[in-house]
Amino acid sequence: MHVAVYPGSFDPLTNGHLDIIRRGAHLFDRLIVAILENEGKSPLFTVAERKGLIAACVKGIPGVEVQSFSGLLVDFMEHFRATVVVRGIRAVSDYEYELQMALMNRELNPGVETIFMLPAVEYTYVSSRLIKEVFRLGGDITRLVPPQVLESLKARLPVAAR
Ligand code: PNS
Repeated sequence: MHVAVYPGSFDPLTNGHLDIIRRGAHLFDRLIVAILENEGKSPLFTVAERKGLIAACVKGIPGVEVQSFSGLLVDFMEHFRATVVVRGIRAVSDYEYELQMALMNRELNPGVETIFMLPAVEYTYVSSRLIKEVFRLGGDITRLVPPQVLESLKARLPVAAR
């Protein structure tokens, strides 16, 4: 049984994340989407809201589930007997940060492997940060996020506040 974890902030989930989840689900028996509980980042959506949104979006993808965690990723992984970290890499600029995290996780637990996956080309420039910025400024992000996320963004950032 191969258990993998796909960790991140997911504030909010984008179609790029969803693409990686779909690809990861093909490779592992169980893929746990793990939301970092980090209020320090002043997230737009609470962890519970993000959990609900992701759960709705991954419904029907076999082997995928959603959890949240605080503390070290390697400790969370040990609890779920997960041995693989899945991370999406969009551009070369992502690599340096990802390399540091992967090697730190390996230092903390040599049994943990990180695999980097490429999202579909049409999502290579999509990030949660840009999604929020463009949405706030009135840009059309319909193609870039799941419909549930779009609805939640509309509810959270109503037109008057934009
Ligand atoms: O989507 P993000 O914000 O780039 O995800 C970063 C995340 C959640 C993968 C990373 O911050 C993380 O794993 N944090 C948990 C704390 C930890 O284990 N740190 C040491 C290893 S880098």
